[in-house]
Amino acid sequence: MDKRIGALILAAGKGTRMKSDAPKVLKTLLGEPMLWYGEQALAALLGERVLTVIGHRAEAVEAAFPELAGRFVLQAEQLGTGHALSVAMPRLLDAGYSHVLVANGDAPLVTAESLGAFAEGALDAAADVAFVSIELPEPGAYGRVVRQGGAVRIVEAKDYDVSRDGPATGEINAGVYLLRLDAVAPLLAKLRNDNKSGEYYITDLVALGAAAGLRVMAVNRGDDPAYLGINSPRELVAAEEALRRRIVDAHLDAGVVIRAAGAVRIGPRVTVAPGVELCGPLELYGETHVAAGATVFSHSVLANVAIGANVTVHSFCHLQDARVAAGCQVGPYARLRPGAELLEGARIGNFVEMKKSTLGPGAKASHLTYLGDATVGAGANIGAGTITCNYDGVHKHKTVIGAHAFIGSNSALVAPVTIGDGALVGAGSVITSDVPGGALALGRGRQVTKQRK
Ligand code: UD1
Ligand code: CA
Repeated sequence: MDKRIGALILAAGKGTRMKSDAPKVLKTLLGEPMLWYGEQALAALLGERVLTVIGHRAEAVEAAFPELAGRFVLQAEQLGTGHALSVAMPRLLDAGYSHVLVANGDAPLVTAESLGAFAEGALDAAADVAFVSIELPEPGAYGRVVRQGGAVRIVEAKDYDVSRDGPATGEINAGVYLLRLDAVAPLLAKLRNDNKSGEYYITDLVALGAAAGLRVMAVNRGDDPAYLGINSPRELVAAEEALRRRIVDAHLDAGVVIRAAGAVRIGPRVTVAPGVELCGPLELYGETHVAAGATVFSHSVLANVAIGANVTVHSFCHLQDARVAAGCQVGPYARLRPGAELLEGARIGNFVEMKKSTLGPGAKASHLTYLGDATVGAGANIGAGTITCNYDGVHKHKTVIGAHAFIGSNSALVAPVTIGDGALVGAGSVITSDVPGGALALGRGRQVTKQRK
């Protein structure tokens, strides 16, 4: 889109109706904050020419989006959507934009295609003030579009007066605007807050523009639900469900086998190779990638996980910030915490937890094990009940287990400690000093067997 078009996301509000202290735009849908969606859609059209107005708990919003640093505008007091635009106006004019595409930050389902089509249409029609309207059975709390005597204006629900505005129709303001900056800038000083909310409304630019003889245009998008705003928990989960279906359908269409698809939740940044098999209930979030030939069974949660080719993740696994190379087997009931890595063909079984640890190619930890700050060599076997004691109450320490080492069941490896290649640790040992390669180490009381009296 034309280099002289910029965009502005309005995201400074508290979201009072969410009943939460967190900024509304940080509430997540399928693991991504609401604001991420609007930003993505506009960035697809305009690259980095997108500014975001923040205010309520601005520091939390900035911290959640480090990649947007320098592209925030602070609206210290949230005096309304028109005020938010006024605060951003100097930045928009400085940037030399001719027009700005403005979107509420609380409508995450809007697509780049839809925004692009609206903006192109408004530009082609040489509109000074254009906005998207949609049709609802009931106008509810939305700003209502009033068309009287050939003129169009927006009346907020609270300010609606049937005797003045006529019977409400279902045509409402979607909260997306294309504004010609030179035309609109002089109108901002005319915005007034003498309304039921005591706020400066961006929506008043429609009537002000018409009165000033500008070209004002409502672009009706029919009953497109993608424009609906999120103001309450009920609306949040309804939008999330619509998004969930959209994403699952796209994966099914691309050739992913998704059983019990109604209970599969896949985030927008997740990639899944065609032919992969997933079974619900299942959650895949963040930067998760599932390679060809893999199967992920039900009741598992994966966030920021790379699953290699032909891996099987059995049921009831919880994997986060982890990597699983080709041909591995995981679970059932396995937990990979941040920094866990399984190299090719490794296996972890039930009730095995790994954190900041690497399991070498073909190595196995099949039952009841904790590996923290550990490196396990190729082909090693970690017996049931093995614990790396990595924490002394103050510091974390590393455990190194060599290739083809065999750790007998119920052993405690007290870090820092190194077990050499091919070493054997007898079952039930507490190992506190290094074991050389090929050695046998026993760290336990000898069995005493006596004749009973
Ligand atoms: C707004 C529109 C309404 C429209 C609806 C569509 C106004 C006055 N009304 O109503 O016509 O039908 O969206 O969803 O614009 N914000 C700021 N600064 C502020 C106040 C709000 O940045 O001072 C942001 C909010 O964070 C939010 C967006 O603007 O993302 C819209 O604000 P919200 O309070 O949700 O407006 P609605 O009442 O939904
Ligand atoms: Ca809203």
